[in-house]
Amino acid sequence: MSHIDTCTLAGHTVRRLGYGAMRLSGPGIFGPPADRAAAVAVLREAVAQGVNHIDTSDFYGPHVTNQIVREALAPYPDDLVIVTKIGARRDERGNWLPAFSPDEIRRAAEDNLRNLGLQTLEVVNLRLMFHPEHPAEGPIAAPLKVLIDLQRQGMIRHIGISHATPRQIAEARGMCEIVCVQNAYNLACRADDALIDQLAADGIPYVPFFPLGGFSPLQSAALDAVAARLGAKPMQVALAWLLRRAPNILLIPGTSSLVHLRENLAAATLELPPEALAELDTLSA
Ligand SMILES: NC(=O)c1ccc[n+]([C@@H]2O[C@H](COP(=O)([O-])OP(=O)(O)OC[C@H]3O[C@@H](n4cnc5c(N)ncnc54)[C@H](OP(=O)(O)O)[C@@H]3O)[C@@H](O)[C@H]2O)c1
Repeated sequence: MSHIDTCTLAGHTVRRLGYGAMRLSGPGIFGPPADRAAAVAVLREAVAQGVNHIDTSDFYGPHVTNQIVREALAPYPDDLVIVTKIGARRDERGNWLPAFSPDEIRRAAEDNLRNLGLQTLEVVNLRLMFHPEHPAEGPIAAPLKVLIDLQRQGMIRHIGISHATPRQIAEARGMCEIVCVQNAYNLACRADDALIDQLAADGIPYVPFFPLGGFSPLQSAALDAVAARLGAKPMQVALAWLLRRAPNILLIPGTSSLVHLRENLAAATLELPPEALAELDTLSA
């Protein structure tokens, strides 16, 4: 293992290649998966391979993903950091709706605790919902105060923020310690470049969601060509590029497949020569 393999998250040393559990519920991140045993197996393999940072939320399923995490991994290894998020709810058709009232936030914390089987949530991201596609300005003080209250009461140990603009992140940092920022970022979507550099300078982890492109996985002839030259898979190259983009980037690629999980974790040791990096740097949309 080299020095670039780990990073500090909320006071814990975690491997930079973690795992995002969103894909473990059913189609559309709604309802149960077709093969629950396979979902359990993916989580157990991730931890067996050294993953000690798992991203989840009780609004995946809803409830289903957290229940699978608990079934697969509880009692949890001492070094495992489970990060969850609060701020959305699902309606009966699976639509994603904002859920920022004090009642909704408290209930979401209780749901996460119960379904994960925990006494305390180690890290909770306040997931902002001002625009479905991209971070957008909007008031964050009221919901963040509720999370801070839950932190004082011991339900939550650390607070992060997700789908947030630089201004909202600065405001949140003025109200409490923010231990991580989780926004969409990948080879083709780099709106957060300046933010990542600032957070790196401040020692705050940046955790890109959709590291592989999310619901439309990355497709690029140039990415395929670089991967073919390196004898690697395109998604491994996409992850290796993120690991080299900044030392504060922690990865949580999502997969429901053991084969993909193993491929993704192997990206930690993929070397990207300077000419490959230069080529990948030009890929941004
Ligand atoms: N804060 C937020 O608002 C937010 C939003 C979205 C996601 N997240 C978190 O971020 C995590 C990552 O995002 P994501 O799962 O949406 O997207 P992602 O990691 O960018 O991509 C996941 C997609 O890529 C496929 N995939 C994974 N590994 C692959 C491989 N080696 N080769 C080919 N295809 C591969 C998966 O399909 P298979 O299942 O077939 O492998 C899935 O369709 C989530 O799991 C979740 O924990 C947070």
